[in-house]
Amino acid sequence: MEVFRKRRSIRKYKATPIEKEKLFRVLEAGRLAPSAANKQPWNFIVVDNEEVKKKLFNAYPSDWFVKAPVIIVACANPSLAWKRRDGEEYWKVDLAIAIEHMVLQAYSEGLGACWVCAFNETEVKKVLNIPEEVRVVAMIPIGYPDEEKGEVTNRKQLREIVFMNSWGNTCEELLT
Ligand SMILES: Cc1cc2nc3c(=O)[nH]c(=O)nc-3n(C[C@H](O)[C@H](O)[C@H](O)COP(=O)(O)O)c2cc1C
Repeated sequence: MEVFRKRRSIRKYKATPIEKEKLFRVLEAGRLAPSAANKQPWNFIVVDNEEVKKKLFNAYPSDWFVKAPVIIVACANPSLAWKRRDGEEYWKVDLAIAIEHMVLQAYSEGLGACWVCAFNETEVKKVLNIPEEVRVVAMIPIGYPDEEKGEVTNRKQLREIVFMNSWGNTCEELLT
């Protein structure tokens, strides 16, 4: 519970480089994630080169983003992913699990990270030579935090989001 309460989106990083072993464990946390039918339809591009980061600025023009010592770009290949019989696609779900594994491991390593999805995907793909059929799901800047954030507070309450046995039924009995 401590990880869930204390993990926050960090948007200010120290220039201190990330130790190789820590980065390894962050990536390993992603690798171990579950995926539908164990298809693992993912690739992760680790960006630590200043020139490449400068180019990624064009895709997500925020100074704090490119100041992160490392940016992990999480990609999905939809043609490799499991699909439901009705055609519903699950590659974003698979990627989200792997990405959040990495974000939580980063927190456990004393690092800060932030999900970034509001980027120009065409630009990211151009900069990183990503094949046409591959989709970019998120970019995760990671570095030692240079801002203090309190615990998570601004979430809906359980009584607003949990129902018992049928849509709309209060879950009050679980909370008292
Ligand atoms: C799918 C997703 C996309 C996000 N995209 C961005 C983004 O493009 N830029 C950004 O600054 N934060 C982004 N965030 C971070 C959220 O704004 C943040 O998680 C949310 O406000 C809750 O704050 P907290 O992470 O500190 O608890 C994104 C988060 C998620 C889960």
